[in-house]
Amino acid sequence: PYPFLAELQRSSPVCQVDPNGAWLVTRYEDMVAALKDPHRFSSEGLALLAEPPWLGSNPSARSLVTAEPVRHGKLRTLVNRAFGVTGMARLEALVRQLAEELATEAVLRREVDFVEEFAFALPRAVIGHMLGLDRSVFPKLKRWGTAMAVVSAATTPEMQAEVRDAIAEMGHYLDEIIESRRREPHEDLVSDLLRAEVDGQQLSREDLVRFLFLLLPAGLETTTNLLGNMAMYLARHPEHVEKARTDKAHAVNFIEEVLRFECPIQALFRLTSTDVLVGGTTIPQGSMVILSSAAANRDERQFSEPERFLPGREKQTQHLAFGHGIHFCLGTQLARMEARLGLEALLSRIQGVVMKRGEVQWIPSLAVRGPAVLPVELLPLA
Ligand code: HEM
Repeated sequence: PYPFLAELQRSSPVCQVDPNGAWLVTRYEDMVAALKDPHRFSSEGLALLAEPPWLGSNPSARSLVTAEPVRHGKLRTLVNRAFGVTGMARLEALVRQLAEELATEAVLRREVDFVEEFAFALPRAVIGHMLGLDRSVFPKLKRWGTAMAVVSAATTPEMQAEVRDAIAEMGHYLDEIIESRRREPHEDLVSDLLRAEVDGQQLSREDLVRFLFLLLPAGLETTTNLLGNMAMYLARHPEHVEKARTDKAHAVNFIEEVLRFECPIQALFRLTSTDVLVGGTTIPQGSMVILSSAAANRDERQFSEPERFLPGREKQTQHLAFGHGIHFCLGTQLARMEARLGLEALLSRIQGVVMKRGEVQWIPSLAVRGPAVLPVELLPLA
């Protein structure tokens, strides 16, 4: 349970945490209303956090996720197809194979850091493949991902220098990949995006780079956290292991309930473009607003018995883990596919997960939720 958020949700659902600070919205209904109103709740809020003055430029801060509605619509149409049914069907065999290889290896070793060996390794391989990265570049993905994740928390000159270097390095790699796909198209995401055309318009080179930059923070850490959280819930709720192994619908519900209960992105950020009334309270123009997905997903006005982990509950998929409205997560199908095939690969090899008590380390952030280190024992099926 999150007692502080639950108390705010009851007594001051729209409040300012400190007198000059951001506003916090905790009720489901209010969060949905804000996300449906991208003009007044502008994603510029996210851009401000991703591109602090010391950084100069961060391509991901000017990407799809921060674009205002008209530009967003054009960009989203250009990238949508690559993430739709056909694009995902093309990836399915690869994701299954990767999940099976990683699961076989992890179960053989039996005692592993689940994050390192599986939860990070699977989405890293998938996103590496989508970006056309050579395996030798994989170690750099951690550096780039971390740099993107800590931008708003980089307070020392050393941290800031590291973020700048990592972003420059990533830009360099992406430029090379784009150039090589331009010369010789492959059956992959970058080639698809270079070809994409809507009403005679194509993605500009700059927008393509920005979009590829966005995929790291958007698709890597989030999916890692989902897979890590899933392993924790297999350990905490062993009663679901057998059922999820034998009943595909239950496995899917299990994943959705993990998304609701421990959503990998706990808060979304918006900036008000005008004074705006939410849940009876006026938030002034120019305010940073934190929309708490963590609280909204446990709002008893929306979900009955919200503090219970109940796969298969009513309104199972109505959680806000993937956001809502125009910026609704583009990678939803991919994330769900990685989770489903990852779970299948594990459950066909194990009878359970045992967590090594006291050794879990959480990611030190209020905005993301997932284990950074998760030592477990994977108990092989007899
Ligand atoms: C947007 C969550 C996986 C790509 C979002 C948003 C959320 C989210 C909450 C909305 C942000 C906002 O409104 O400010 C998640 C979670 C994931 C996941 C929980 C995994 C469990 C992925 C993957 C990809 C991806 C695998 C791609 C490889 C994107 C993109 C956007 C986005 C491109 C921006 C969409 C837009 O602005 O139109 N995601 N995501 N995500 N996500 Fe995901």
